[in-house]
Amino acid sequence: MSRIDVRIQASAEEAVRELAGELRELIRRCQDEGRRAVLGLATGRTPLPLYSELIRLHREEELSFRNVITFNLDEYLGLPPDHPQSYRSFMREQFFDHVDIDPECTHIPDGMVPEEEVVAHCEAYERAIEEAGGIDLQILGIGRTGHIGFNEPGSPADSRTRRVALDEMTRSDAAPAFDGLAKVPTEAITMGCGTILAAARLRLMAWGANKAEILRKAFLGPVTAEVPASFLQEHEDVRLFLDGPAAGEMD
Ligand code: GLP
Repeated sequence: MSRIDVRIQASAEEAVRELAGELRELIRRCQDEGRRAVLGLATGRTPLPLYSELIRLHREEELSFRNVITFNLDEYLGLPPDHPQSYRSFMREQFFDHVDIDPECTHIPDGMVPEEEVVAHCEAYERAIEEAGGIDLQILGIGRTGHIGFNEPGSPADSRTRRVALDEMTRSDAAPAFDGLAKVPTEAITMGCGTILAAARLRLMAWGANKAEILRKAFLGPVTAEVPASFLQEHEDVRLFLDGPAAGEMD
């Protein structure tokens, strides 16, 4: 816990202002250095206020994403990119379509990759991250199972981008968005824990009391594959952004 910097704010909106500021600085510094900023992005409800704030910075304060490359954590297997619940659709609706990022520079695993090409697709995703120079800053949420990306309990610390089965709790948390559990995919492609831990900076956000218990387990408990987010304790540059209710069990 000692190395982890925890920022607690009254609301998610306040918490993301600081994180968006850090992203702005990173993007501008990369621009000055003549290179692209490489951002790892997340889906789910948690990053929504961050994406809203980044869109505001783009519209009102001229923050440009033209020199940004992004890699998303994961995608459901079996969903075409234009499916309303695909993470590709999510990212377009919530962020990409509202800023000046080059769509060619936005990477998300392909949920429709043919069975026999999944392994090669995952390897190519890892290679693309490497060729971009590695991830400068990875945005994360946390699932109630302790997952990061879709690295469910049991995912090893050195796991890489791969096909995974979704935990039942994760599927039932996603059920309302899919209009019922039966429609929630059972598998996904996710960056591995090792892929995530290779990012230079990790920034995890969590809001609301229903994340309090898993946050305590992940950041005050032992480092274990049973709670994949606990691996963050061993990373050198981690910051948690929490609202009061999420931080409720952190002491
Ligand atoms: C999803 C995503 C994760 C996300 C988590 C929490 O399944 N794959 O990347 O962090 O679940 O979701 P939410 O932010 O909606 O609570």
